[in-house]
Amino acid sequence: MKNPEHVQRVISALRKEGTDKLQVISDFDMTLSRFGFNGRRCPTSHNILDNSRVISEEGRKKLKDLLQYYYPIEIDPNQTMEEKRPLMVEWWTKAHNLLLEQKILKSDIAKIVRESEVMLRDGANTFFDQLHQHNIPLFIFSAGVGDVLEEVLRQAEVFHPNINVVANYMDFDDKGVLRRFKEPLIHTYNKNNTVLEKTEHFQLLSSRTNIILLGDSLGDLSMADGVPNVENVLTVGFLNDKVDERRGKYRDAYDIVLEKDETLDVVNGILCYIL
Ligand code: TMP
Ligand code: MG
Repeated sequence: MKNPEHVQRVISALRKEGTDKLQVISDFDMTLSRFGFNGRRCPTSHNILDNSRVISEEGRKKLKDLLQYYYPIEIDPNQTMEEKRPLMVEWWTKAHNLLLEQKILKSDIAKIVRESEVMLRDGANTFFDQLHQHNIPLFIFSAGVGDVLEEVLRQAEVFHPNINVVANYMDFDDKGVLRRFKEPLIHTYNKNNTVLEKTEHFQLLSSRTNIILLGDSLGDLSMADGVPNVENVLTVGFLNDKVDERRGKYRDAYDIVLEKDETLDVVNGILCYIL
């Protein structure tokens, strides 16, 4: 924490004002899901598809090449978000076009997720169950694939009715074959009001003026921009990769930075104290 007194003040305010005023806004990939396990990287929602048996050998190689080219740009501390934005649009567009070539079936998604190596962070069940029990809305704002991440939550039995997801959703034809991704395209650096304009989500929650925001990218910090009349915000950032190079920027940007922490323990501890 760069400013522990500020963190203490915000947590006290969240506790005092109670559950009726609280909402949680979270990224999905590498925030609610694990970054690594036993020294191996865990997949993002895109990677779950990329690594699956429904993708041809050639398609898989091309998707991997894109990841190897664009991921270092995504996390590069020496480039601004403005510089990265067009490159992220390029990555997502190319990746989605490759996925479209693979004629993915809607009916295969559950199996693809089941056979993948995706894992939610340790403590995820406690996190989701606590929020559900206290009727606290959880808004998952993801640049990943909506259909896939919903299935991850469903299989973990944590996709409770207090959850709302905005992400890149697939559109299937009447034979159940993937034919396009729905608009607007969400990538790491446009997670803000511009892609939420057509949803009433935050308007419906206008009494929820206290926010806990969870993310792993500096792009995740704008996820709450559309919330009206914000009073108290606590931001928690998971710093998963290139920790030494990015520590300074993360400490400046997030109230609490969790370095190489594969659990939701800190968040659960805060929730337990507040609720
Ligand atoms: P998130 O907003 O839920 O974290 O999802 C975005 C992540 O997905 C981002 O960190 C980059 C990653 N990604 C892939 O792993 N493969 C891809 O093909 C694309 C387009 C993104
Ligand atoms: Mg993420």
